Amino acid sequence: MTMRTKQSFLWFGWILLSGSCLGSFVVEKNNLKITSPNSLKGIYECAIGNFGVPKYGGTMIGSVVYPKTNQNGCKPFDSSLSSKPGTFPSFVLIDRGECYFTLKAWNAQKGGAAAILVADDRTEPLITMDTPEEGTGSSKDDYIEKINIPSALISKSLGDKIKSFLSSGEMVNVNLDWREALPHPDERVEYEFWTSSNDECGPKCESEINFVKGFKGAAQLLEQKGFSKFTPHYITWYCPEAFILSEQCKSQCINNGRYCAPDPELDYKRGYSGKDVVIQNLRQVCFFKVANESGKPWQWWDYVTDFSIRCPMRENKYTEECSDQVIKSLGIDLKKVKDCVGDPDANVDNPVLNNEQDSQIGNGDRGDVTILPTLIINNRQYRGKLSKAAVLKAICSGFQETTEPSICLTPDMETNECLQNNGGCWQDAAANITACRDTFRGRVCECPVIQNVQFVGDGYTHCEATGALRCAINNGGCWKETRGSTTFSACIDDHTKGCKCPPGFQGDGVNSCKDLDECKEKLACQCPECQCKNTWGSYECSCTDGLFYTRENDMCIGKYAASVTGGGIVWMVILILAVAGAGGYAFYKYRIRRYMDSEIRAIMAQYMPLDNQPETSIHAQGDV
Ligand SMILES: *[C@@H]1O[C@H](CO)[C@@H](O)[C@H](O)[C@H]1NC(C)=O
Ligand SMILES: *[C@@H]1O[C@H](CO)[C@@H](O)[C@H](O)[C@H]1NC(C)=O
Repeated sequence: MTMRTKQSFLWFGWILLSGSCLGSFVVEKNNLKITSPNSLKGIYECAIGNFGVPKYGGTMIGSVVYPKTNQNGCKPFDSSLSSKPGTFPSFVLIDRGECYFTLKAWNAQKGGAAAILVADDRTEPLITMDTPEEGTGSSKDDYIEKINIPSALISKSLGDKIKSFLSSGEMVNVNLDWREALPHPDERVEYEFWTSSNDECGPKCESEINFVKGFKGAAQLLEQKGFSKFTPHYITWYCPEAFILSEQCKSQCINNGRYCAPDPELDYKRGYSGKDVVIQNLRQVCFFKVANESGKPWQWWDYVTDFSIRCPMRENKYTEECSDQVIKSLGIDLKKVKDCVGDPDANVDNPVLNNEQDSQIGNGDRGDVTILPTLIINNRQYRGKLSKAAVLKAICSGFQETTEPSICLTPDMETNECLQNNGGCWQDAAANITACRDTFRGRVCECPVIQNVQFVGDGYTHCEATGALRCAINNGGCWKETRGSTTFSACIDDHTKGCKCPPGFQGDGVNSCKDLDECKEKLACQCPECQCKNTWGSYECSCTDGLFYTRENDMCIGKYAASVTGGGIVWMVILILAVAGAGGYAFYKYRIRRYMDSEIRAIMAQYMPLDNQPETSIHAQGDV
């Protein structure tokens, strides 16, 4: 009986799909750019897997590794796949087949791979790698939640080419690019979440409700600030005309077979029926409609989380009464919601559910919605794990660059690519300065600003401190050494950039400045009486025969000018100046005496007549 019910449900789904839009399920793709070897260079398409964390909005560089054994990745890898320091992260290439895609990805991640490329095993258009269907997975498929590396399916022909290059010892380098995986036209992201109120479908329902709970805060913030326009949606099926009066349709459908949902237990005689699920889904659509009309569409997130906590199926509380209580506690007009739901037993259309059925059909790039849950961002289906960080990353990549809200730029959105090999950016490990900065779009290599000092350079191989305070930080990247109480530095504060060894040293100024041996290099202290001794950064010079060394003239001199041993002209000049100075002094003394004499004479003359005798001056001196 269970089997029969399931078959008819699947059949309903098939009728809707084949009747209106066969084959418009869209495989979401991103770009895979091969950068080496030359003969394989180019941009190829690959399909984003529906698990793990695709780096929406970002890129990732890696080197392909094809394991020697366990090539289908169905067993854990015993030797590490992770890359060695200083090399590209490893993208492990795995063959399709023999086990679930998710198991391959999980084994690759545990082995240390940064991403997994799955090579198709047949020639066909790219498919979407999905998680195992409920019921078919093993009981231990909780690992699916833990997959956080991105995955991509590549065509058989590309896989074969990569393998042949690898086997001939060539390195295959790849750039995975998700920057255009989602359109990012403007400053607002439109997104839809296709879900169901059914909470009894195993791990898939659990992860769905956990996502809603975890994402609620971010979703409400984005909506309240006008950054997003969110719409929840619910899939319904219809019952083929000939079966409207059958037991299956009666228990799974409302409004005379117009809107149906699968039975939660896949057994319509037991527990809740598909009809209960459709009605609750309808209440949730109506709740959104009423909340939206009152200007608070984000209250849907509160209603859905509160309902799942307060009214779960397993506690037999999945009822209208319980739902009404939740609606009332959120301050929403219950009557409006009930009017929107209408009478499920009436043979009439429900405009809200008609609208849901119409929206299910794809348009443009989007494709039909056939998988639950499905997230659609800017009219494209999201692929990847349903987790807050992964989904927020995808939504953030839907904003035109630089218009993304601050929630996209917080630390928990970072990709942590800088942790591995410093993201390939410049760094000064000794000074703990790096140009690598994590963002949700992936890492950027940008010379930093540290303590108001701007570093400039390409960010990859070179960054240099510039400006007035630059020597304060890591000595401006220049050489500096202290011996005893002496320090020499190659950083000059008033130069905006560059390093220069101080006098007495030679070198590049960055890594080293070597002491210059002034004695050996015959740069100073070379006179016959000079005795030269090199010191660190300078030299000492002494003179024989009781002479003195003068550093400014770099020579030995005696106590008297006569013992000039070199630089004779200078000493002649000094001698002349000395003679001239002595003469000048004598003349000055003479002038002073003459002046005093004449002054005294003038004073004395007032008291007595004087003759012109010189000795009066002596007398007068004693008198005054
Ligand atoms: C929500 O409300 C806005 C304006 O009030 C309206 O434009 C929009 O169509 C509504 N959305 C739905 C799904 O009813
Ligand atoms: C390096 O700097 C970062 C932040 O600037 C800091 O968190 C980290 O602890 C530093 N590491 C060392 C070894 O100093």
